[in-house]
Amino acid sequence: MLKKKRRLRIGVFDSGFGGLDILRFVVRALPTYEYVYLGDTARAPYGHRSQKTIYTFTKQAVRFLFQQECGIVIIACNTASSEALRKIQTHYLKRFDEKKKILGVLIPAAEEATQKTSNRRIGVIATTATVASNAFIRELTKLDPGVQVFQKACPLLVPLVEEGKQNDQETHIVLEKYLRPLLRKNIDTLILGCTHYGILEQNVRKIIGPDIKIISEAKVVPEKLKKYLKKHSDLERTLSKRPGIRFYSTGHPAKFNLLGSKLWGKTMRVEKAVLR
Ligand code: DGL
Repeated sequence: MLKKKRRLRIGVFDSGFGGLDILRFVVRALPTYEYVYLGDTARAPYGHRSQKTIYTFTKQAVRFLFQQECGIVIIACNTASSEALRKIQTHYLKRFDEKKKILGVLIPAAEEATQKTSNRRIGVIATTATVASNAFIRELTKLDPGVQVFQKACPLLVPLVEEGKQNDQETHIVLEKYLRPLLRKNIDTLILGCTHYGILEQNVRKIIGPDIKIISEAKVVPEKLKKYLKKHSDLERTLSKRPGIRFYSTGHPAKFNLLGSKLWGKTMRVEKAVLR
């Protein structure tokens, strides 16, 4: 008897809830696939952690998602993408089936920004670890050596979003303080280089005015993934076409549901994940 081939899922990993925003747009654009979301909420935020720790945590998350039959893993977390992705792709991935792929969010955002900018002055707001890695500067200047990149670490934004304070006056004041120095640099394009910042897009728009282009990964990644799957049709054929999403959290599943459902728009059945 012929053995039926297993169909693979698409995994989306984030340190916490922010990646749900990216998943939401990906599922909307590509609804026919089967997804697994993993939020490492027990150990989030990653944004202030060392490169070594972020690498270890991200490797564990990737292994977990491969164990959940994912053929593609999207590292939705910018901090993990900038501190661990390249090393995982070049070293760690070799341990697994060579057909498995890991994609990040930095390159899609950088591609979009270099296409959109006219004056080649690009601003980036991100976590402390992402800014310290200089990964956005590396990717942006690889695509266009003539661009000037101005970064600003915004460590207070993730806690404010996680506390559901996106519309509070406090958040507006903090955001304005972070954005002012970038506005003085005459940027014409701004990358929201953190999963949580997409949720603040309207707040950012109010502060920077109508003319600066905003690059929000939740809007960019789905289109890039669509193109990627079209180009890699062999990989696309291995993917399950039985729509569905499984949610995993390393923290308390009920707590993940409580906070995550605000972002997701409805309640989720969340399972506990143990990473090692
Ligand atoms: N997911 C992280 C990122 O996109 C933000 C939250 C954290 O610091 O873990 O950089």
